[in-house]
Amino acid sequence: MQADYILRGQVLSFTDTPFEGDSPEAAAELHEAVAIGGGKVLELGTWEGLRKAHPAAELVDHGDRLILAGFVDAHVHFPQTAIIASWGKRLIDWLNSYTFPEEMRFGDRSYADEIAGRYLDLTRANGTTTMCSYCTIHPESVDAFFTAAQARGQRVVAGKTCMDRNAPDGLRDTAQSAHDDSAALIGRWHGVDRLSYAITPRFSPTSTPEQLEAMGALWADHPDCLMQTHLSEQTDEIAWVKSLFPEARDYLDTYEQFGLLGARGLYGHAIHLEDRERARLHEVGAALVHCPTSNTFIGSGLFDMAGLMAEGQRIGLATDTGGGSSFSMLRTMAAAYEVGQLRGTPLHAAQLLWLATQGSARALHMGDQIGNIAPGMEADLVVLDLASTPAIAQRNAGAKDLWEAVFATIMMGDDRAVAEVWINGARG
Ligand code: GUN
Ligand code: ZN
Repeated sequence: MQADYILRGQVLSFTDTPFEGDSPEAAAELHEAVAIGGGKVLELGTWEGLRKAHPAAELVDHGDRLILAGFVDAHVHFPQTAIIASWGKRLIDWLNSYTFPEEMRFGDRSYADEIAGRYLDLTRANGTTTMCSYCTIHPESVDAFFTAAQARGQRVVAGKTCMDRNAPDGLRDTAQSAHDDSAALIGRWHGVDRLSYAITPRFSPTSTPEQLEAMGALWADHPDCLMQTHLSEQTDEIAWVKSLFPEARDYLDTYEQFGLLGARGLYGHAIHLEDRERARLHEVGAALVHCPTSNTFIGSGLFDMAGLMAEGQRIGLATDTGGGSSFSMLRTMAAAYEVGQLRGTPLHAAQLLWLATQGSARALHMGDQIGNIAPGMEADLVVLDLASTPAIAQRNAGAKDLWEAVFATIMMGDDRAVAEVWINGARG
């Protein structure tokens, strides 16, 4: 197939997982150029070689910019866009004070459309091409998000957030309506273009056992859907879960007993895990999603990346907008590094980039479609300027290799570092 475009730069492709083996760098290869066509990555190679092979392609020369897979954000709440960075509360008070009043507004389709568009524009400017989003209890919020993503050609996952208790009037569904509305949304959106559906019980404190059971039954009927929820984020939350579910062995069991534990399950935060929970999550191959800016911002705790990776857990990285304090996966990688430092286990730049691309893609079971630049993968790309500000440029000037240079952009970069974004083979 002839390429539509050839992009030149430092093209980063992972050939391995940088959490295995002695050298994280060895997991990545650099190429001079990448050819894309028909929305896919066709070939990696030299600039000269690819130009000869694809003479009709449009040439896009990015010099020494870094070209990598678009960022994949494995846990976000798009409806919290307008309340990001709200001051001073811990999880439950933060939900009640800021989040629930804002989420109440999404019964209004035009407001949901406005925020969905705003959120996708902000994240695209930050180089994020795929995300897995919670919506609100309102089916309109799901329609708004999928409609906006479809118009942009994006691969996204989303689901109606289900909650039938411990939420204000106007922001509760029922076990039956959550099941039926979610089923209708699956029928409408799952597998349409690049869109897919995640069954989304918010977390066990806001669902009755009847609702969790209905969600488990729905997942059993649609096993190819992902299922997303929250797990063990704050100690107060865990104590509350134990009081609401006195029979449960632990927090995870409040999902497990209702059929809500599985390989296609995504468990956000997963900070204060008990041994049984870790063992079961690993056994079923579930995904844990690390949300470091959220965990420091809301004061939740320090995710055990090194320990969980050593156990072989499946782990993705996420902003958790708007509990997280940034739309940027660069800032999120920086926070993951800082959390690692606070636990005595710094992450290598290759590991951070892998988590923000292939790690999150694998968490979404999309690792063979997105999250890496390799032949056959979908052409979602981000082009990073590694000297985007004077402060970063002067640090980059002294860098001895790519990893040192890119680390400065990870730690200090923002949307100014994002030179170009490609979605589905087109400039975004
Ligand atoms: N737990 C339940 N809902 C939420 C949410 O919206 N954000 C975060 N950070 N944690 C949650
Ligand atoms: Zn969340």
